[in-house]
Amino acid sequence: MVKGKTPHVLSFINLKGGVGKTTTAVAVAEILALEARQRVLLIDLDPQTNATVNLISEEAWDELDRSGRTIAQLFDDKINHHLEPKFDIERAIVRRVSTVNGGIEALDLLPSSIRLIELQDHIPGIAMMGNFTNNPLDILKKALQPVIDRYDYVIIDCPPSLGTVTRNGLRMSTGYVIPTIPDIVSTWGIYQIVDNVRRFAADIGQTIEPLGIVATKVQKNNLHDRVMNDLAHGRLGKFNAAGVQQPRFFESTIPLSVNVARGADHEADLRTLNGKYGPQAYVALQVLTREIWALCEANSQ
Ligand SMILES: Nc1ncnc2c1ncn2[C@@H]1O[C@H](COP(=O)(O)OP(=O)(O)OP(=O)(O)O)[C@@H](O)[C@H]1O
Ligand SMILES: [Mg+2]
Repeated sequence: MVKGKTPHVLSFINLKGGVGKTTTAVAVAEILALEARQRVLLIDLDPQTNATVNLISEEAWDELDRSGRTIAQLFDDKINHHLEPKFDIERAIVRRVSTVNGGIEALDLLPSSIRLIELQDHIPGIAMMGNFTNNPLDILKKALQPVIDRYDYVIIDCPPSLGTVTRNGLRMSTGYVIPTIPDIVSTWGIYQIVDNVRRFAADIGQTIEPLGIVATKVQKNNLHDRVMNDLAHGRLGKFNAAGVQQPRFFESTIPLSVNVARGADHEADLRTLNGKYGPQAYVALQVLTREIWALCEANSQ
């Protein structure tokens, strides 16, 4: 990356839970850092902390949480602005994370915390708390300013909603990726996401490009085939009806993988990307990462 150039900031979003947002975001971050030799920061915006505990041990996370080194503390400081602020971005970023390779040199993590669940409802009211300089949607972006130009890519794992926390992620995003299981319920809300993000971006005078939709947990059955065929031809239901162009469908589709499903049960498997994702899903995730990378590089020409 040329110094002074801003990084590509990509949010992984779907309103539906359990569709592979975290798995895809973490894998793309790992592959970009390990194989494309990009400097990557993964931000976990979900109070479920799935991306965090995918990349660091629960003991390490517990210590970070107790010492205020998660994004929950960032928002806590703004909500309880009369108290001495505790969040320090340099101390919160965990360097060289991942189960593979004993940690990936170019991959850093800004961890989340379950404490965000109680805090998130208070975030919209921050500007009303006598703290008028704080736009509640700008908190994450401002906090990242001192470190952002160290990275080529920032990958944001969002919770399954478009609430204030996700909007903090979108506020600093250049684009977003929509992981979805190729079935009816999982693809149902995709039009709403695209419409909502487009209106949000227009409101804040910014471009947030939908990079594409990626099929996850793909199985060989008629329903998945049919939905993927519609996606590949830009024919997802509500887009047609509304006359709005559907975002591109990534050529790489991520198969259902026993390795991913059984997760951390098999520690030995987690030491390589091939073992962590299983051979088929790993290749698919590599191809997806290349597609995302090529699009981002083309956008910055
Ligand atoms: N390709 C895959 N093959 C098998 N299991 C998968 C695959 N992708 C994800 N999973 C499993 O499905 C579950 C949900 O995946 P993941 O956590 O990535 O989804 P999510 O969209 O981030 O969920 P949430 O909305 O709760 O954050 C997890 O148990 C994960 O291990
Ligand atoms: Mg998740």
